Amino acid sequence: MAGRIPQDFINDLVDRADIVEILSNRIQLKKAGREYKACCPFHGEKTPSFTVSPEKGFYHCFGCGAHGTVVGFLMEHDRLEFVEAIEELASFYGLEVPRENAGNAAPVSPSAPLLDLLAAAADLFRDQLRDTPAAVDYLKQRGLNGRVAAEFGMGYAPAGWDFLLRKLGTSDDRRENLLKAGLLIRNEDKRVYDRFRDRIMFPIRDSRGRVVGFGGRVMDNTEPKYLNSPETPVFHKGRELYGLYEARQAIRNPERLLVVEGYMDVVALACHGIHNAVATLGTATTTEHLQRLFRVTREIVFCFDGDAAGRKAAWRALQLTLPELREGRQVRFLFLADGEDPDSVVREGGAAEFEARLAGSQPLSEYLIDNLKAETDLNSLDGQARLAELARPLIGAIPEGVFRDLLLDRLAGEVGLSAKRLGELLTGNAQPTRNRMPAPQQRVRTGEGRNSLIRRAVCLVLQQPSAAATITVPDGLFDLPNPGIALLTDLLAAAQENPGSKSARLAEEFASHPDGGSHLASLLVTDLHLEPDSNWQAELQETLEAVLRQELEKRFADLTRKAALGLSADEKQEMRGLQSRLAELHSRSS
Ligand code: GTP
Ligand code: MN
Repeated sequence: MAGRIPQDFINDLVDRADIVEILSNRIQLKKAGREYKACCPFHGEKTPSFTVSPEKGFYHCFGCGAHGTVVGFLMEHDRLEFVEAIEELASFYGLEVPRENAGNAAPVSPSAPLLDLLAAAADLFRDQLRDTPAAVDYLKQRGLNGRVAAEFGMGYAPAGWDFLLRKLGTSDDRRENLLKAGLLIRNEDKRVYDRFRDRIMFPIRDSRGRVVGFGGRVMDNTEPKYLNSPETPVFHKGRELYGLYEARQAIRNPERLLVVEGYMDVVALACHGIHNAVATLGTATTTEHLQRLFRVTREIVFCFDGDAAGRKAAWRALQLTLPELREGRQVRFLFLADGEDPDSVVREGGAAEFEARLAGSQPLSEYLIDNLKAETDLNSLDGQARLAELARPLIGAIPEGVFRDLLLDRLAGEVGLSAKRLGELLTGNAQPTRNRMPAPQQRVRTGEGRNSLIRRAVCLVLQQPSAAATITVPDGLFDLPNPGIALLTDLLAAAQENPGSKSARLAEEFASHPDGGSHLASLLVTDLHLEPDSNWQAELQETLEAVLRQELEKRFADLTRKAALGLSADEKQEMRGLQSRLAELHSRSS
């Protein structure tokens, strides 16, 4: 079992990688000053708006907003998972990817025994299915064929309480691991027994095809109809998608993927030759699901029941999808009639009927606009304002770029306003909310608002790590409680430790930082309106001081307000301290 790739290796690899070299094997780059340009591989265009910065190690498309490091590019373009992208990059440079448990001194990954047991359980369930005519009959009666059942590794968990317990729980250690893997349950009396009993079993595989969990269905009307593995160290419902591995086995690069609601829908569609369906595991779609899907395909079609629950789930899916949209990515919605599901549609009408339904599915923009229109009376001014109110957070969630502009145009057309007037409605009268709603025609402005100063500091370090080398961090900055400070602190430390680092290295190293690391890729390409030869170091120094000054001023103002009601001795002392500290900071900045 392969262990983790050491972070140091990844850092050095990203630092060493020449993004121009890697990308030019895939797209046609042309030199333009310090940068390179190309027609963006992620959306159709005739004039190049895709830019690559070799110094910083990242790319950015001004047309569709795609951006990232060389690792992100490989993931997106070659449709690789993170680890695969690292392996690809390493092999290009002739490097062996080290694994943390390579030597026998290092501990083996704690999930390895769980994965082994899950694989063994899947094998046992499969054998049981073969030997249980009632289970085979059930699947046949539901129209399933043996080939698809085998492809999906379907099985049967026998009735009784201790099938797996006896077969696999042969030591205390193994029983503990079976519990951790969610295959056994321990009740209050400390009795241990099988979780899945007398159920058809659907193994859930991760992107590498390893069984990480199961769904189990009863063969009659007993409740609950489905039982799923609980969250375990190797199984996260918010991440896994049933059928994604199998879909990619059938079609390496699917043009579109269908998101359906049930396990049965996925396998029934496969039986009718439709191999690109996946299902969430009885839970709502998450951003992580969407990101995984868009790594593999350009188009997602959500299939929902036509009932109220389905409509609600669809709207939720739409809201989650907006931040992931960009040109070249498509999302559609298919609503079935109440009482139908993809399984029943293909059983009754075959693949042709289902394809016909798909052809009639709604593009996201249409679905969004129809919904907004249904909520408002556009004949009144109030109605228009209300539409703007409803649209504001939705449009604001879409990344700047061609798709957002198109949607705004369409929305304006629908409501009989000019795009300009609608833009005003969308930005006007609004309290400047802190959500990511820049006016569509405006660029995101930096240098305003409390947290945007912190963001600016993060951008500065990220985009020009060498600027951090000789910075003096103002006393007390790192103690501020604001979001982003922890990330800023860690970035500064990393940049000072390795002054030659590329921006891309820092972005990758801190991508999963809990204090906002997931925004780093977009901060990489935030326009700070600085020239490459500006004094970035002075800019950074000033910004750090401004952050501190701003927070201390705020605290001072709070205390001043409170002073009317009386201050404690400590607070009085704090105020005096703040006063002299602020005087000192102001004298420095003037
Ligand atoms: P069939 O009834 O066999 O056609 O199943 P289905 O896959 O069409 O399921 P259905 O549309 O009823 O539900 C969709 C999905 O919701 C299922 O695949 C499960 O993931 C989940 N689900 C449904 N019922 C239950 C339940 O009782 N418990 C849990 N935990 N999940 C359920
Ligand atoms: Mn069904």
